[in-house]
Formats: sequence, structure tokens, C-alpha cells
Amino acid sequence: MFNILKKEELSEHVTLFEIEAGDIARKAKPGNYFILRTHEKGERVPLTIADFDRGRGTITAVFQKVGKSTNHLGTLNEGDFITDVVGPLGNDSHIENFGRVICVGGGVGIAPVYPIAKALKEAGNRVTSIIGARSKSILFWEEKMRDVSDELIITTDDGSYGTKALVTAPLEDILCIEKVDLVLAIGPAIMMKFVCRTTEKYNVKTIVSLNSIMIDGTGMCGGCRVEIGGETKYTCVDGPEFNGHEVNFDLLMNRLQGYIDEENMAMNRVQACGGKNYGIKYS
Ligand code: NAD
Ligand code: FES
Repeated sequence: MFNILKKEELSEHVTLFEIEAGDIARKAKPGNYFILRTHEKGERVPLTIADFDRGRGTITAVFQKVGKSTNHLGTLNEGDFITDVVGPLGNDSHIENFGRVICVGGGVGIAPVYPIAKALKEAGNRVTSIIGARSKSILFWEEKMRDVSDELIITTDDGSYGTKALVTAPLEDILCIEKVDLVLAIGPAIMMKFVCRTTEKYNVKTIVSLNSIMIDGTGMCGGCRVEIGGETKYTCVDGPEFNGHEVNFDLLMNRLQGYIDEENMAMNRVQACGGKNYGIKYS
């Protein structure tokens, strides 16, 4: 059982938990993820590590309440316990002094970008971070991102804060005047696709962290399969980070959309059954 030491609402649909998990915190590295379950029959929820503190033995989870399991997770409070937390899982980010780096975080993707930007800065890179959200009210971690960046650029889709633009606009502005050695992007698949389209034009290496559907997290079920450079890979064990220029984003988005449609259909069926979940698996 894993104690929730701190709960913070970052926006209406995004919640932060600081979880006591000493063994995971000791081994965690930027880029890793973990899987949690709120109860024994609960769905397994994969989350990229948003922060960790080895001294205090804590890991930070930032999640968007989008489906049944994450909504249930959001009902837990400080002092409550999470049944299972397994991790750290996946490969950690490749950190070295590349030189000039741009870290792009879109929406909830800002959270997993943070520890990677921090490690890249500590490794001596000059880090420019671009963080974007639909609107000011759902933008979070501005100060945390500023602390680990040489320069921070903020965009909102509606212009309520920072520059009125998608994250790709300031990215392209920088790429067309400066030599950049690496771009790291985490956010919705559509954002990562267009970040990669932008960086491809300037031939800049681009790493993305994929959010495909995971079930077992061990490479056995095939749920998280993605196509990278024409080959099938498993996000859970081969990723979650990949060379963005090799990712088949259209296939990833199709599979994510299929999941959402199936989950909505399953939830409608659950409601039609009087609100009980008769063991429907959403994958
Ligand atoms: P969102 O839809 O609000 O988008 C966030 C930002 O991404 C926008 O403000 C914009 O700047 C940029 N963006 C969106 N569409 C774009 C486009 N077509 N071109 C260029 N830039 C674009 O994001 P959200 O609702 O917070 O994101 C939720 C999604 O992010 C979920 O699907 C979730 O699974 C995913 N996510 C992924 C990871 C990951 O590890 N890859 C982590 C957290 C969340
Ligand atoms: Fe099952 Fe990756 S989650 S193979």
C-alpha cells in the first residue's frame, strides 16, 4: 500500500499526487514511468514520472481525469492509500551535454517534461523550454519549468496568457534562426506529430515520449505496440521515448481514438446496466 502524502489540484481536470514509494524513488530516472492500481480489480494506470525525491522517498504523479480509473484516482485524498505502484518501468531518458536543447511540453505533457529538462540542464545543456496549454486556467508548473530552463516560452491557444499560438510556432521561430542540437517533446500525439514535422524540416534530432495504451507493461500483451521506422515496437519495454521522426503517429492516433471510442461505449453500457462495471475491459 502506498500513502498519498500530498494532493494538489493543478487545474479542473489535472491532479498531482506525491506518493510515498521509497524503492521506486531510489531507482527512478527521468523518462521512466510507473503503473498504479487503486484497488485489486482496478485498471492498471501508466503514468510517466513527473518528479521524484530520493531523500524523502517520494514520487510525483500528475494525471488528467479522463476515464473511469483516473476519475476514481482523483477521488483519493492525502492520507489515502493506493493499492499497487510498480516501477520504475521503461527506459530512462538519454541525458548528456548535447549543447542547445529545446524541451516542449503540451498540456499534461508539461509534467513529464520537467524532470528531463532538469536533468538536461544539470548536464550542461542550454535549455529553452516551450510550454503550451489551451488556456491560462489549465497551464501549470510555470515556475518549476522556469527554474530548470535558461529561457521559458509560454503559449496558449486562446491567447489568455503568453503568446497566442500552438507550441510549434515559437519552436519554428527558434529553429529558423539558431542551430539546435536536440528537441524533446511530450504532449498529445497530435502535438508531437507536428513538432516532428517542424523539426524534420531543419533536420534536428527529436525525441518524443509516447502515450500508447498499456495493459501489462511487460511486453507481453501487445496493447502498447507502435510502429517505429516501419517496425513494431512496444512502448512499455522499448520506450517510452523514441526518435520522433520514425514514429507512425497516424497509427498511434488511430489506436488511441479506438480506445477512447471503446471506453465511451463501455461506459455507456456500464451506465445502462445501472452503474455497475461487469468486468468490462477497456482494451
Ligand atoms: P491539449 O490538447 O490541451 O494540447 C496542449 C498543447 O499542445 C496545445 O496548447 C498546443 O500548444 C499543443 N498542440 C495541440 N495540438 C497541436 C497541433 N495540432 N499542432 C501543434 N501543437 C499542438 O493537451 P491536453 O488535453 O493537456 O493533453 C492531453 C493528451 O496528452 C492526452 O491524450 C494524454 O494522453 C497526452 N499526454 C501524453 C503524455 C506522454 O507521455 N506523451 C503525457 C501526458 C499527457
Ligand atoms: Fe502490454 Fe506493452 S503494455 S506489451
